[in-house]
Amino acid sequence: KPYVILISGQGSNMQALLEDQLPGQCRAVISNRPEASGLATAAAYGIPTKVIDHHAFASRDAFDMALADEIESYTPQLVLLAGFMRILSDAFVARFSGRMLNIHPSLLPAFPGIKTHAQALAASVKTHGCTVHFVTPALDGGPIIAQAAVPVLPDDTEESLAARVLAEEHRLYPRVARWFLTGQVHLIDGRVKCTAPLA
Ligand code: GRF
Repeated sequence: KPYVILISGQGSNMQALLEDQLPGQCRAVISNRPEASGLATAAAYGIPTKVIDHHAFASRDAFDMALADEIESYTPQLVLLAGFMRILSDAFVARFSGRMLNIHPSLLPAFPGIKTHAQALAASVKTHGCTVHFVTPALDGGPIIAQAAVPVLPDDTEESLAARVLAEEHRLYPRVARWFLTGQVHLIDGRVKCTAPLA
């Protein structure tokens, strides 16, 4: 089962996915930023890489169209956003409805958007974590598939908390990707249907 991974930066989630020997073939790693260090990591795994640089397009829609066409060229069963830092248009998202996942570094619906660990510390929450969800037009608002929680410690900084969450992301995302690629997760009428044990 072919899948593609979209990145914008370091690609540590991408690396965790590639390390996990998922039951599918990663056809490409696509980045919107040419300087994303994850591109070199992908190449080291022998995965074809492609840059669709959003600066090279006159409009957001033109970029989204080019990106969607590139993704479709791999006929993926699954599109994994992994540290992909672009807001995608409704038209783009609609083309991949039910087969595009994202991992967000908070326990949604808490702390959507960016700088989620700073948000968590500012709110003095005692529990934080990460969420894997289907991508829908609602930014960071798609149907939740799975979450992993971590404690927030009294002396936590943004960095220490981010590191603790990132470690859980690297465990959760491959697990959910495997569920999807083995037909245990579906988006039906906007609701998640998951038959995986311990879901
Ligand atoms: C990290 O903040 C992670 O929590 C979020 O995207 C950022 C970069 O992740 N999912 P990665 O190392 O590029 O996968």
